[in-house]
Amino acid sequence: MCGIVGAVAQRDVVPILLEGLRRLEYRGYDSAGMVVIDGGSADLRRVRRRGKIVELEQGLSGAALNGPIGIAHTRWATHGEPSEANAHPHICRQTVALVHNGIIENYEELRTQQRTAGFEFTSDTDTEVIVHQIYHYLEQHNNLLAAVQNALEDLKGAYALGVISARKPDHLVAARRGSPLVIGIGIGEYFIASDVAALLPVTQRFIFLEEGDIAELTREGVTIYDARGRRVERPIRENKLRADAIERGEFRHYMLKEIFEQPRAIAETLEGRISEQRVLDEAFGPKAGEILDKIQSVLILACGTSYHAGMVGRYWLESIANIPCQVEIASEFRYRRPVVTPDTLVVTLSQSGETADTIAALKEAQRLGFGPSLSICNVPESSLVRESDLVLMTRAGPEIGVASTKAFTAQLTALLLLVIALGRRHGLAAGEEARLVFQLMLLPARVEQILQLSPAIEELSQQFAEIRNALFLGRGTHYPIAMEGALKLKEISYIHAEAYPAGELKHGPLALVDADMPVIAVAPNDQVLEKLKSNLQEVRARGGQLYVFADQAAEVKSGPGMKVLEMQPVEDETAPLIYTIPLQLLAYHVAVIKGTDVDQPRNLAKSVTVE
Ligand code: G6P
Repeated sequence: MCGIVGAVAQRDVVPILLEGLRRLEYRGYDSAGMVVIDGGSADLRRVRRRGKIVELEQGLSGAALNGPIGIAHTRWATHGEPSEANAHPHICRQTVALVHNGIIENYEELRTQQRTAGFEFTSDTDTEVIVHQIYHYLEQHNNLLAAVQNALEDLKGAYALGVISARKPDHLVAARRGSPLVIGIGIGEYFIASDVAALLPVTQRFIFLEEGDIAELTREGVTIYDARGRRVERPIRENKLRADAIERGEFRHYMLKEIFEQPRAIAETLEGRISEQRVLDEAFGPKAGEILDKIQSVLILACGTSYHAGMVGRYWLESIANIPCQVEIASEFRYRRPVVTPDTLVVTLSQSGETADTIAALKEAQRLGFGPSLSICNVPESSLVRESDLVLMTRAGPEIGVASTKAFTAQLTALLLLVIALGRRHGLAAGEEARLVFQLMLLPARVEQILQLSPAIEELSQQFAEIRNALFLGRGTHYPIAMEGALKLKEISYIHAEAYPAGELKHGPLALVDADMPVIAVAPNDQVLEKLKSNLQEVRARGGQLYVFADQAAEVKSGPGMKVLEMQPVEDETAPLIYTIPLQLLAYHVAVIKGTDVDQPRNLAKSVTVE
């Protein structure tokens, strides 16, 4: 989390840094800051503010900051509360300024050493030790690059960082280990950022630094060194994304825009991956066919919304592809001792491809000796993509709203492609494959149709304005969908919401049901519909208020204590994607009524690159 951006140019870099920060705000937004080296005096000039980028912008307007080289940061606090003193950039003795994304694990030890050496601390962050350490080495040999290299050898933990110094007013040094960092290539100007999106207004050419790389940027060019200090060349890649791909357009919030982009996200995720009613093995990368042939089981690792997609994936893999599947929250998997099963495909699901726990879980699975890995991811060139043997990109486009929506349904689409590709190796008949592929092709139009429910759901959401708790119910593949609905509601409306498999209601949560506890259920017309209906009756009999999204043919009708919103009939396999949409819309409209910050809910961040 945290976003960093830096630039070395001939022109004033303040507007470039500010726009970069705006585009990175999704990574964290509790405080922000910027340092530029003044073009005339070569002094470090800094402005920091607690709060969002708009606060920094106001601070900058009074400060007349201006200069050809600078670094900037938007923060998601880990060590030290959100405050101006803890905001980056951190400066040591008016000489070195630094922005950092990540966590330094041995900062307490370094702090003690540095205090003894006479350094003063002005923040509670783990970051400040880095800038002191760089200063310490800079004093020894007056070489910024070498000082950063030396300092990094003393650090344990994860970082992406940008450093400038009044002693070298035309140099910007950047480094990454464990946190993302890209270099943007302009004409006679160079940039760094946590994400390409930050730099799209100034360039479409990027170098993706590798683990342990350190780069030195001047107006003349970029020189990169690997972790062992050897000079290396990294390829320059063109990014086709347009700068306006991350603009909000006519929509009031990114989240709403992204909900409405789902038909396209699904269609693009399918494009080129299906031919003549078959899923192409090549969709997963070169040699995918041979790799998939050997797979006997699947292990899915993910966090947050991506984990919910993984849970749906497990139902599908077992029922459609006839393959055993485990799915686990990455932060749990990485610290337990699982039994290693050979020929297991390790599937990581991630919107960002930079979630620290998911990356660590994948590495742990590789270390333990599980089988090959597949990343289902929305960001090309991200760490997970680069660490994996096979890749299936979800093509949802940039997702800015912190609460994930289109990335989720694109992940479900990608998972179905995987399920089919593995399934035909484990007894899925060609006719069944063709039927499933046909369903996939119908999905974009079906989702488009369901989006038309938005006004009806907006009306329904009025009834949630005053509630404090909510219960979500589903069964089978729709249990994870209920979990996703509950997560959406709590993330953006701050209403406490829990999800249960409907059959589990009677084992505890039923005790909570009364007129103040709305119960939201998804009721597709599947094999567990009748069971679910009985569970709904259990709620009704106890005076609970039900809101049910039900298949038209399910014979679930509105009545006292039960409000039903009817859904078009849909096949079992693709129903989870369809039933996700009304729950996303419900959370969105409730949050709007409650007046919360929909796109940037409190305390959260989009990309969690720390443990
Ligand atoms: C954060 C985001 C969630 C996301 C989760 C996993 O918590 O706020 O929306 O689901 O990280 O992120 P990933 O990028 O790995 O899917």
